[in-house]
Amino acid sequence: MNGASHALLITATIGAAMAVVAACGGGDADSAAEQAVLIEQGKQVFRFDTFGDEAQWTDALRMHEVISAAVDPVTALSVGLKVDADALPTAVVDGIRNGSISLTSPATTIALLKLNAVVGLKGTVESVNGVDRLARVGITCALCHSTVDNSFAPGIGKRLDGWANRDLNPGAIIALSPAVDAATKTALNSWGKGKFDPRHNVDGISKPVVIPPAYGLDGIHGVTYTGDGKDLAYWNRYVAVVEMGGQGSFAEPRLNLNITNGTQDLVSNKLPALQAYQLSLKAPVPPTGSFDAVAALRGKAVFEGAGKCVSCHSGPLFTDANARLHSPSASMAEPESQSYASRSATKQYRTTPLKGVWQHAPYFHDGSAATLEDVGQIYSDKMSLGLSSGQIADVAQYLKSL
Ligand code: HEC
Ligand code: HEC
Repeated sequence: MNGASHALLITATIGAAMAVVAACGGGDADSAAEQAVLIEQGKQVFRFDTFGDEAQWTDALRMHEVISAAVDPVTALSVGLKVDADALPTAVVDGIRNGSISLTSPATTIALLKLNAVVGLKGTVESVNGVDRLARVGITCALCHSTVDNSFAPGIGKRLDGWANRDLNPGAIIALSPAVDAATKTALNSWGKGKFDPRHNVDGISKPVVIPPAYGLDGIHGVTYTGDGKDLAYWNRYVAVVEMGGQGSFAEPRLNLNITNGTQDLVSNKLPALQAYQLSLKAPVPPTGSFDAVAALRGKAVFEGAGKCVSCHSGPLFTDANARLHSPSASMAEPESQSYASRSATKQYRTTPLKGVWQHAPYFHDGSAATLEDVGQIYSDKMSLGLSSGQIADVAQYLKSL
């Protein structure tokens, strides 16, 4: 199916679902049903919709040729791509287990794409003289904001939507394109895994940020590290159009940006569902036994007292994002003069929400703190808090409990 007919299908499905909901009349139960339908539609968009970005990934970057020639499953897993075990039929599972399906053949990657089993990649596979050929490929939100639980094998398991894929090396993947010049390849290859620069193709600067989780954002009206948007739809539109190359428009006067791809809009009517799905994704609770509860209790007192953390990480979501942003000097991560914030629409930083923070090391927008202990040490040093090593360890345990 091509991007356009896929989009039509989704639009038609949303329309039909809405008609059913409308026919049921008003009331709380019905609006809950309506919300559930919207969330389910958004899940499909998040996982499988390319917004017609094959124009970028196939027509411009020719990634379908790269995949067909050289990307066997072992290679794909090595650059952090994930496989959805639930999409694999028993025969394929058996074939992988007994070795009759080769994980070192690009044809197997094409077979997996045909099954829609590669998380965040959407392939159109055509049969030519009985041989499957990858005709088009595009990417979806799940590429960077989903991973798997490794329950089948490393890199293969059940989807975990909203979890950042910190194994993915988007720079190295894009650098495989034959359409990318040598200087750009060097920049892309310097990013490393788990990072992406969503402004590089706009301002030419190469300074990647850590891929953040897309969960735990309900109630936060300041989206991205720099609080560029008041709601998710703002940034979702930015990414879909400006980064993924989807068909549609994005305008941002603060960045003097006005981009239109293609002649149709395959983005706008999906944004409400996409946002509803993301807002339904809760931050994961810490695994049992993953932190010391007594130390965490002591750490809470430091967080709210000597550490002064709560002056910014306030409220149930541990952020003051709905009230204010902070100057680049509030980021402990980098020299103020070269801030990532300076490239953003706000030129400031949002206090990062901390629910589920145990799950996604490294920390700060540039990943400069490897652990939560490092975070505490950096704050203590740069803010001259004079925290003892015991207090820093306790704060780390508290953060792990959120
Ligand atoms: C190539 C990797 C990549 C893809 C694909 C991608 N994102 Fe992101 N996303 C990022 C990075 C990197 C950031 C951090 C940008 C920033 O905050 O400045 C981000 C930030 C976000 C945020 C902000 C999270 C927060 O804490 O406020 C949301 C929401 C989001 N992305 C949703 C999406 C959606 C929806 C899609 C699909 C339309 C998508 N992303 C596709 C890499 C990606
Ligand atoms: C002046 C406001 C302010 C104070 C005080 C503050 N923070 Fe932050 N915090 C921020 C901002 C802004 C960021 C985002 C910085 C960045 O990514 O560069 C952040 C990021 C973080 C992160 C990284 C989260 C992630 O997912 O990358 C952690 C953890 C954190 N802070 C913990 C603390 C702790 C612990 C304290 C107290 C010792 C503290 N903060 C004090 C504003 C503050």
